Amino acid sequence: GDSVGFVGYRGMVGSVLMKRMLEENDFEGITPVFFSTSQAGKPAPTFDGALEESTLQDAHDIDALAKLPIIVTAQGGDYTKEVHSKLRERGWDGLWIDAASTLRMNDDSVIVLDPINRDVIDRGLDSGVKDFIGGNCTVSCLLMGLGGLFKQGLVEWTTSMTYQAASGGGARHMREVLKQFGDLSGSVSAELADPASAILEIDRKVLAKQRSGELDTTQFGAPLGGSLIPWIDADLGNGQSKEEWKADAETNKILGLSEEDRVIMDGLCVRIATMRSHSQALTMKLTEDLSVEEIEKIIDEDNQWSKVIPNTKEASMEGLTPVAASGSLDIPVGRIRKLAMGPQYISAFTVGDQLLWGAAEPVRRMLKIATG
Ligand code: HSE
Repeated sequence: GDSVGFVGYRGMVGSVLMKRMLEENDFEGITPVFFSTSQAGKPAPTFDGALEESTLQDAHDIDALAKLPIIVTAQGGDYTKEVHSKLRERGWDGLWIDAASTLRMNDDSVIVLDPINRDVIDRGLDSGVKDFIGGNCTVSCLLMGLGGLFKQGLVEWTTSMTYQAASGGGARHMREVLKQFGDLSGSVSAELADPASAILEIDRKVLAKQRSGELDTTQFGAPLGGSLIPWIDADLGNGQSKEEWKADAETNKILGLSEEDRVIMDGLCVRIATMRSHSQALTMKLTEDLSVEEIEKIIDEDNQWSKVIPNTKEASMEGLTPVAASGSLDIPVGRIRKLAMGPQYISAFTVGDQLLWGAAEPVRRMLKIATG
């Protein structure tokens, strides 16, 4: 089988990727070659004997990388920036499959999300595209949920108001939030133990702690535990964050839409103190007045992972939360109803595991397509 180089298999996204590949027996029929930025020469992982023993190669050894027909990386954007161009400059024409954003919007790359854009991927492979890049986590999860409406050209525009989990920042970000919750709780433990203590006093103490500068905010730059941060990624200087810009740019690229067919997407991206599932509250203007039943059918039938949650309180609380969606490939889509603005306006709420469809899964599936 094809030799496939893996870089960044130990990080958070890489670990999820390895786990999914093992679950799906994806290592059968390929020869994995593991690379490390820090442990070259040490034993490569065998995943409890699932793989043969081998030795880790140096992830900065361009000659070693260039021997491989396919490289899969979850090492992150800085690595891609440093290594990808060196490889291409020396004439390497293998497939580069990458979870990082660095190459996403390049003209000669394809953003991979095959249940939604297999046609774009196949056209890319046929026309000699060599860089296949996973999309932004929110965009990928959103399209997995509502892809049916987009694919059928039923969306005129969408606002996407996001509730993005700590994992989008990275592993250290998740630890930081939990640490903050612990410190906040600890600062009022005596009062919490006493049911008769005054809640306004507890609130005052928690707020004082949040503002004290004592919480570790190294990763996020502001307290997230018990708060939120209404800005994700760079400030583009026009009032928009880079994360907000990605929604429109990447959605249209994923769907392969031309200038005339573009779907307009815009909204605000907000970091909240959840662990690994991103949510979006959507307002959509459809091109037609469809019944809620028709809309639900289109969403549910588009792919095997989109899952309509009935628009009731009970079903929403049970099935439409980050707690419900985390660890699952299912993308619940709920709160679907006609809005007061008119018959073509609907709301929807969707949740997705940011490490699965938002990161590892599209990359895993692209490798399958490339080696299948
Ligand atoms: N930019 C995303 C976030 C990471 O910060 O949540 C996943 O693409």
